[in-house]
Amino acid sequence: MEPLRIGLVGLGTVGGGVGRILEQYAERNALRAGRPLVIQKAAVRDLTKPREIELSASQLTTDPFEVVTDPSVDVVLELIGGLDPARKLVETALEHGKDVVTANKALICAHGQELFRKARELGRTICFEAAVAGGCPIIAAIGQSMASNQIVSLEAIINGTCNFILTEMFHKNVSYADAVKKAQALGYAESDPAMDVEGTDAAQKLGILTQLAFGTRVVPEQFPVQGINTLDLDDLKYADELGYAVKLLATAKLVEGKLELHTQPTLLRHQRPLAQCDNAYNMIELTGDSVGKAWFSAMGAGQMATASAVVADVIDLAIGRAQLTFLKLDVWGSHTPVPLQEAAEICRRYYFRFNVEDRPHVIADLADVFGRHEISLASVLQKEASEVDESGESHPIVPLVFMTHRTLEGSVQAANRELAELACVRAPWVCLPVAD
Ligand code: NAP
Ligand code: HSE
Repeated sequence: MEPLRIGLVGLGTVGGGVGRILEQYAERNALRAGRPLVIQKAAVRDLTKPREIELSASQLTTDPFEVVTDPSVDVVLELIGGLDPARKLVETALEHGKDVVTANKALICAHGQELFRKARELGRTICFEAAVAGGCPIIAAIGQSMASNQIVSLEAIINGTCNFILTEMFHKNVSYADAVKKAQALGYAESDPAMDVEGTDAAQKLGILTQLAFGTRVVPEQFPVQGINTLDLDDLKYADELGYAVKLLATAKLVEGKLELHTQPTLLRHQRPLAQCDNAYNMIELTGDSVGKAWFSAMGAGQMATASAVVADVIDLAIGRAQLTFLKLDVWGSHTPVPLQEAAEICRRYYFRFNVEDRPHVIADLADVFGRHEISLASVLQKEASEVDESGESHPIVPLVFMTHRTLEGSVQAANRELAELACVRAPWVCLPVAD
């Protein structure tokens, strides 16, 4: 049987994992793919770096265009990340008659539509299961397994690095900086970890899932995105005391014919499965109009989990299943796009934590601002000042936590502007949404 000849562009964390699966499980892969899967050529930046798999000098190049134009390559795996030169490489591979597998969410979120159109015009296929939630088969779940449903709500923990950092900070008392370093060493983080901790990576993945589930093309600039880089361990502790875990949650849901979208650190009740998803695991809670609620979870980052999704895509291509799905069912064209809801119209509960002067009338001043913006308070938690105050302030500064009832984001923003005028409040304060 003729082998399927693979051109690897990138042999880092994910590419190295793909190489390991192709090498270690060659027999099993061949059985499932109906033919051997072999690495024909691979592109890297640095030829001198030690690699996890052995490749001959003639197989390795520093020119990725050599791989995507090589007539002896059948399938290109784009595993370098970023937009440039990844986009040009994928286009060139398609033009040279190759199907493409990619783990690149930045690319699919920003240019998926054009790339898919081009691939279809050329009769080629692009697979991108690894681009969202690592080893968790969420693209197949939405595009195939739940195809008879209209998804009405999608709530997702889809950044392994952030989930790992929050778990390390809260459960192991590791500092934020050390947790970031650990996530990088474990191969979870993007080459620029700001993409993870500032929420961009999760927002790009939400963009992809939103296009799949609702047909609406969105990029992170179009909806509220907030990362975990400004979170304080104290807030994880207060939230826990109130019965919640804090997770970086990506949300897309249908509300009265509009699409509510946001990616933010969010309080989730301890009882919810999403609140129990820890470490670098991802979890997506989908609600379909026929199936009801469904949960999908697996390691969302890291070498072998991500490589598992990439190789599964290669096997799907080898047996022709991916082509059937991609070419017959227009993954992003099978919906009437749903319009976006204005951020100010989003309605939910909020957690506020202030550092305030411990003196008369402070709670009344804050409650007055909330009241004037029709924000109803659900609970208040104030911690006593320590006996010894070394701050030099005329009044000790104490943390004050409010939980609100459901209210509009627009009202919260207006209240925030007025709260900034209160002399008793020390900036900055924390305001996080709650997902009940
Ligand atoms: P990585 O470890 O930084 O690996 C990138 C690889 O690409 C390296 O082998 C690098 O070469 C090579 N490369 C970069 N630019 C190149 C260029 N211009 N020409 C030739 N080779 C080039 O990144 P990664 O973590 O494997 O991520 C790869 C992709 O998978 C990204 O799109 C990422 O978002 C996605 N992803 C990653 C994970 C994860 O857990 N890491 C999970 C899901 C998806 P050198 O080795 O010589 O530097
Ligand atoms: N940096 C990403 C994460 C990799 O931590 O989730 C998986 O896409």
